[in-house]
Amino acid sequence: MIQIDVQVEAAYNQGGDAIVLPLLERGKLTESGEAVQTVAGDMISNFLDTSDLSGDFGEACVLYSVTGTKARRTVFLGAGEEVDLSLHKLRVLAAKLAAKLERNAICTASLYLAELNVKGISLVDKVQAIAEGLYLGLYKFDKYQTKNKKNKHALQSVSIMLPSVDHLAVAKEALVKAKATALGTIFARDLSNEPGNVCTPEWLGDQAKTLSHEKLKVTVMDKAAIEKAGFTALLAVNQGSAKEPRFIVLEYSGGKKDDAPVALVGKGLTFDAGGISIKPAAAMDEMKFDMCGSAAVLGIFKAITEMNLPLNVLGVIPSTENLLGAAAYKPGDIITSYQGTTIEVLNTDAEGRIILCDALAYAVEQKPAEIIDFATLTGACVIALGGQATGLLGTGEKVKQGLKESGMHTHDRVWELPLFDEYQKQIDSKIADIKNTGGREAGTITAACFLSRFVGDVPWAHLDIAGTAWNMKGTDISPVGGATGAGVRLLVDYLSRKV
Ligand code: BES
Ligand code: MN
Ligand code: ZN
Repeated sequence: MIQIDVQVEAAYNQGGDAIVLPLLERGKLTESGEAVQTVAGDMISNFLDTSDLSGDFGEACVLYSVTGTKARRTVFLGAGEEVDLSLHKLRVLAAKLAAKLERNAICTASLYLAELNVKGISLVDKVQAIAEGLYLGLYKFDKYQTKNKKNKHALQSVSIMLPSVDHLAVAKEALVKAKATALGTIFARDLSNEPGNVCTPEWLGDQAKTLSHEKLKVTVMDKAAIEKAGFTALLAVNQGSAKEPRFIVLEYSGGKKDDAPVALVGKGLTFDAGGISIKPAAAMDEMKFDMCGSAAVLGIFKAITEMNLPLNVLGVIPSTENLLGAAAYKPGDIITSYQGTTIEVLNTDAEGRIILCDALAYAVEQKPAEIIDFATLTGACVIALGGQATGLLGTGEKVKQGLKESGMHTHDRVWELPLFDEYQKQIDSKIADIKNTGGREAGTITAACFLSRFVGDVPWAHLDIAGTAWNMKGTDISPVGGATGAGVRLLVDYLSRKV
């Protein structure tokens, strides 16, 4: 990870490999840019007048040895129209810049981006967004490339420059939060990007264990312990796999002893072939990402431990593969869940809800204040919302409202779908209590209806991250193409707002 700090210094006095100055539409500079222009004689004005630079968002141009400056390079970074800026655009701008600096083999840089005005946004939030953009925009997953890989980042350290010393202390706090959030997001991405032959339930349990900390107790149940505890629905899905399941419990005690925890539940399907109701071959490789819910939960625990968040948080992760070995569960099977509800299996590919039901029922027993679950649960959610928003459903009105607000703030966005009573009858079974599919209509909603049967009256929100958890094309802040870490920024913000 690169080093990021905050400093106060005039741009022309700042040394290092590069100073980065925002350039607005029509060649307008911000304060620091104008100050550099003043010391540089005609150099900058001539350059801006004669160059093709328009100030378009993300466009960058490097000048060397500008008169009156100390840094080796002066980078002009297009920021577009200032009125169009948002917190997320600032995050994206920082990510684009990081990639650019890296390409130019720049080791140290000082950024004057926090002086861009973003309507309604404080300096602290801007510093956090810039830092997140830098960390996330530099993400790599190249451990399996044995040739042509650059082992080290060119970019070593970046200073985010502030207008005055008054803001130093709060800006440093923002950096701590940004770093923790990025570490959590990167942890989630790294786990998710591992292939299914490496990331097995056992391996996932081992990774969870690495998070153990004075305030974080991690318990990993193996198959024998799962049998003893009676997580029978999880065991049913596991029947077709040669690999043992795991049931992972994380207990973070940052709050007061008797405070009810927030419970986070994550789907940990390390590979979903669909089981006997096998999936088509096309893009089946992407089903290694079916554990992104569990990765998000682990990433959140990583971040809150880093931040030393004063809250109690419980994590529950059921993990297995969904394969089609000789002992695999079959369409028509009826299984009895941990909670006692009987489930008629109509499609073995609707396995996520089955393993989650035991985890939710277990979470309810721990008497949490609320439950939030994360799951790559339905293809229908990808059709409904694409990659731009996570599906949000549930019974906890306050939880959902808080998640919507954090979603907008972090741009790790959520969009609510209804859980009207009428949908519930789609999963009523004629021979068992419920069936595991509700037909083609409203697939994301009926999956949530299934989960709703296991949360009792605990306020609950379900996050269907099927469309947001990975992006094969990549984005500026998730550049590799693969897992995005969806849910981590969202929850770190949501939980931080509780303290
Ligand atoms: N893991 C999948 C959902 C999924 C599919 C996520 C594609 C991301 C991309 C889940 O286990 C599944 O297979 N769901 C089925 C449910 C259906 C059989 C009721 C689906 O969505 O097709
Ligand atoms: Mn499936
Ligand atoms: Zn699945």
